[in-house]
Amino acid sequence: MSKPKVLLVLYEGKDHARQEPKLLGCIENELGIRDFVESYGYELVSTTSKDPVGSSEVDKHLEDAEVVITTPFYPAYITKERIAEAPKLKICITAGVGSDHVDLNAANERKITVAEVTGSNVVSVAEHVVMTILDLVRNFVPAHEQAMAGGWDIAAVAKDTYDLEDKVVATVGCGRIGYRVLERLVAFNPKKLLYYDYQDLPAAAAEKINKASELFNGKGDILHRVEKLEDMLSQADVVTINCPLHEGSKGLFNKEMISHMKDGAWLVNTARGAICIEQDVADAVTLGKLRGYGGDVWYPQPAPDSHPWRHFRNKYGGGNAMTPHVSGTSLDAQARYAAGVKELLRAYFEKTFDYEPQHLIVIDGDYATKAYGNRK
Ligand code: NAI
Repeated sequence: MSKPKVLLVLYEGKDHARQEPKLLGCIENELGIRDFVESYGYELVSTTSKDPVGSSEVDKHLEDAEVVITTPFYPAYITKERIAEAPKLKICITAGVGSDHVDLNAANERKITVAEVTGSNVVSVAEHVVMTILDLVRNFVPAHEQAMAGGWDIAAVAKDTYDLEDKVVATVGCGRIGYRVLERLVAFNPKKLLYYDYQDLPAAAAEKINKASELFNGKGDILHRVEKLEDMLSQADVVTINCPLHEGSKGLFNKEMISHMKDGAWLVNTARGAICIEQDVADAVTLGKLRGYGGDVWYPQPAPDSHPWRHFRNKYGGGNAMTPHVSGTSLDAQARYAAGVKELLRAYFEKTFDYEPQHLIVIDGDYATKAYGNRK
């Protein structure tokens, strides 16, 4: 009898995998789970071949897969069609945070569990968000490009450089990442910190930020919840997107929504590429509505060379702080999500199903989290 199958989809590590054994999230190092999976009598099939849907290695193995493990950084999109091709599939595990690459409604129809390693990389992303805000506001990228190219044209950089101090910074979504971003920004003495979320922050968390601001900057009461997204956008110099991708956030930042932002504002998105309409964002920067856009998430991933976010610049030649999807995959984060995947697998293999509740996205045909849309 053939062994039950675990299908693992990761990006290629190549020489980097040999240089750095801590690079657990690549195909060569397989999250360090091969022996563990095999010790439970399962077969581990690992592959980088995920595209195109229908004729990749992933598609070849779906028929026998009981467990599928994917990452948001190099996502195998587990579409409704792929779920239909996977009759034995019981659990999809995300090595990281953000499980929108699985069709969650289709998973619910089939009562497939979707779980992720909640919290594993939220600090990594929050740090990347703060870095990207600074990159844009301080006009770092053009300055760095100039330095590397042997230039010394101060004016060319200074004409588009500002201070973060005394700016209004706003987050769309104030969960684990959004909150950590605001927490870190207190040190920059912002004018106000705003958030838009259908879930209120616990009073103690809000108080912590106001108290920290009082201590650091001599002013409390800087954190405010705004009920209407458009109202928040019209007040903010910097907007950071930190909500999951779901039916209610897909395409949220289109031309119309961006028109509510302040002229010359900066937009940062490390949540998911598809929350923004790519051409509308690129046009907003190119035409001068926004001063800049940055982040690390795209759709699809890997992004094609022709993706407009690879090339846009503002009228001064800056305003683009994009990276590949790297914020949540620091080596520290990789160690945490590899350990988290092992723990989820243990609960599945041993049939104890004692998953940490915060790791569950959907289970038993329903959503286990309030983060994927304001559902009744
Ligand atoms: P979380 O579940 O702690 O917080 C998400 C918050 O967003 C919740 O408070 C929820 O109520 C809110 N929300 C949902 N829809 C909203 C909407 N339409 N408008 C306003 N608020 C909304 O999640 P966490 O850990 O903060 O992660 C958020 C997202 O960040 C993930 O779902 C993922 O897409 C992305 N992420 C990106 C990473 C990267 O490497 N770039 C790594 C980790 C997460």
